[in-house]
Amino acid sequence: MPMPAMWARPDLLKGKRALVTGGGTGICRGIAIALAAAGADVAVASRKSDHLAPTVQDLQAHGVRAIGIAGDVRVPAEVDRIVQGTADTLGGLEILINGAAGNFIARSEALSPNGFGTVVDIDLKGTFNVSRAAFPLLKAHGGVILNISATLQLLGTVGQVHASAAKAGIDAMTRTLAVEWGPEKVRVNGLAPGPVAETEGVRRLTTDASRARIAEICPLGRMATIDEIASAALFLCSDASAFITGVTLVVDGGLWLHSASALGVDATAS
Ligand code: COA
Repeated sequence: MPMPAMWARPDLLKGKRALVTGGGTGICRGIAIALAAAGADVAVASRKSDHLAPTVQDLQAHGVRAIGIAGDVRVPAEVDRIVQGTADTLGGLEILINGAAGNFIARSEALSPNGFGTVVDIDLKGTFNVSRAAFPLLKAHGGVILNISATLQLLGTVGQVHASAAKAGIDAMTRTLAVEWGPEKVRVNGLAPGPVAETEGVRRLTTDASRARIAEICPLGRMATIDEIASAALFLCSDASAFITGVTLVVDGGLWLHSASALGVDATAS
C-alpha cells in the first residue's frame, strides 16, 4: 500500500466525500488512499471490477467509508450509475478526481481512427462525462474537480498523438470549467505527472533505455513516486489551495523543462 502523503493531517479532509475514477490501480489508487488517510470518504470507479475490492479494503483501513463501483466513463448511463452510487452510499460529493485513462504507444501512421478515438473517448470525453454528471452534487456544498493530465502533450511526444490530443483537451477543459463553475463554488484544476515509478504506465510505455535517460536528464534526477503525486493532489483538493482554480500543476521534477537543454548545450559548445 502506498504511504499517505507525509504532511497531511488525518482530519485535513474529514467530512468530505470523494469519487476517484481510475482509482483501482496506479497513481489514482495512490490518490484515493491519500484522500482516505486525510479523512475523506472515498468511492473508486474502474472499468475492471477485480481491481476494486483490494483498493476498497485499503481505503477502509483508514477508518473511512469506501465503495468500489465498476463502470466505463465512456458510457453516459454507466457514468450516471457511478455518480449516483457514490451519492447514495456516501451521501454527497465534494471532491472528484478524473483519473480514468487509457494509453498505448502507436505512431500516427499505424493508428486507426478507432484507436485514436478510443483514447480520446476514455481520457477527454470521460473527463467531461463524469464532471458533467457530478456537477449538481459538487455545487450543492461547494467542491473541487482534479483532472489528471500529463506532460506528453506539452512537447511532440512520438507515439502519443492520441493521448497528447486528449490531454491537451483536458487542460483546455480545466480552464473552461474553472471559469464556468467558479461562481458555483466549484474549483477545477489539473495535475500533470511526468513518469511515475512503479506504475503500469511506466512499465508499458518506457524501456530500460528511456528510464535511464529520464534519470539522467530530469533536474531532480529520478522519477516521481506515487506518494509525491498524491501529495500534490491533496494540496489541490484541500483548502490549502482555496484560491487556486483553472491551473494544471506539473509534478515531474522539472523533466519536461529540460527539453530546452538542447539549445543550451549547443550555445555552450559554440
Ligand atoms: N497499437 C495500435 N492500436 C491499438 C493498440 C496498440 N497497442 N491497442 C489498441 N489499439 C486500437 C485497437 O486496434 C482498436 O482499433 P481498431 O478497432 O481500429 O483495431 C482500438 O484501439 C480500441 O482497442 P480495444 O482494445 O478494442 O479498446 P478497449 O476499449 O478494450 O481498450 C485501452 C482500450 C486503451 C484501454 C487498451 O489499449 C488497454 O487496455 N490499455 C492498457 C491499459 C491502460 O491503458 N491503462 C492506462 C495506463 S497509462
